[in-house]
Amino acid sequence: MSENIEKGRILKISILRFNPQLKGDKPKMVTYELEEAPGMTIFIALNEIREKFDSSLQFDFVCRAGICGSCGMIINGQPDLACRALTSKYPSGEITLMPLPAFELIGDLSVNTGKFMRAMSERIGSWIHDQAMDEIDLTRLEEKMEPGLADKIYELERCVECGCCISACGTKRMREEFLGAAGFMRIARFHMDPRDKRTDDDIYEIIGDDDGIFGCMSLLGCEDYCPKDLPHQTQIAYLRRKMVNLR
Ligand code: SF4
Ligand code: F3S
Ligand code: FES
Repeated sequence: MSENIEKGRILKISILRFNPQLKGDKPKMVTYELEEAPGMTIFIALNEIREKFDSSLQFDFVCRAGICGSCGMIINGQPDLACRALTSKYPSGEITLMPLPAFELIGDLSVNTGKFMRAMSERIGSWIHDQAMDEIDLTRLEEKMEPGLADKIYELERCVECGCCISACGTKRMREEFLGAAGFMRIARFHMDPRDKRTDDDIYEIIGDDDGIFGCMSLLGCEDYCPKDLPHQTQIAYLRRKMVNLR
């Protein structure tokens, strides 16, 4: 048996390297070879590359557990979370990593999803709109909610704002101002919450145009690549049906 097979296979990881802050820098693919370890994730491999080959390699992570949403990137052509993606998923051992498109590039694999998500949250008013709740009254009890409805809201609350759905969406590439699936999931979440007093007409004001729900061409990359398996198809169809009646 060769030494390589005894120790684990050799991975070839090609990364799009580019630092827009560095004058004269140009995008280039750089390939690193490293030995695969049991249970190795792309995140672990990137740390090893940074330690062994190039300390300037940029990529984001916080939780390493698929919770914070900061490690989204394009892995062999598909958006995914680097901390969840096992290298063993790629039988050839050749792995290509690129930053998520549709977001401002910070450098290498690091993109500014926070800026996008903040703007999206402000655009849709990502909080419960109820004047009565704005008044500070510590004795006021929240209305009871059916457990089934609470579960449905919770399902949409699981979004980790990773941006994979935005990067997987062809419409977003064509329409810069397109709200995108993360925004639709968020508006659906507030729309089904009885504590939010916004009417259908109020929602129409936010998403009733081609940068909103009518721009969605049902390409469903969002459904395919959401690492949290949010019900994009169902919720987008529901919102569209509701909004089309108000047109
Ligand atoms: Fe990520 Fe899914 Fe949220 Fe989109 S909806 S940002 S893919 S968790
Ligand atoms: Fe884009 Fe999802 Fe619609 S991928 S076009 S938001 S169905
Ligand atoms: Fe938090 Fe990957 S590091 S989701």
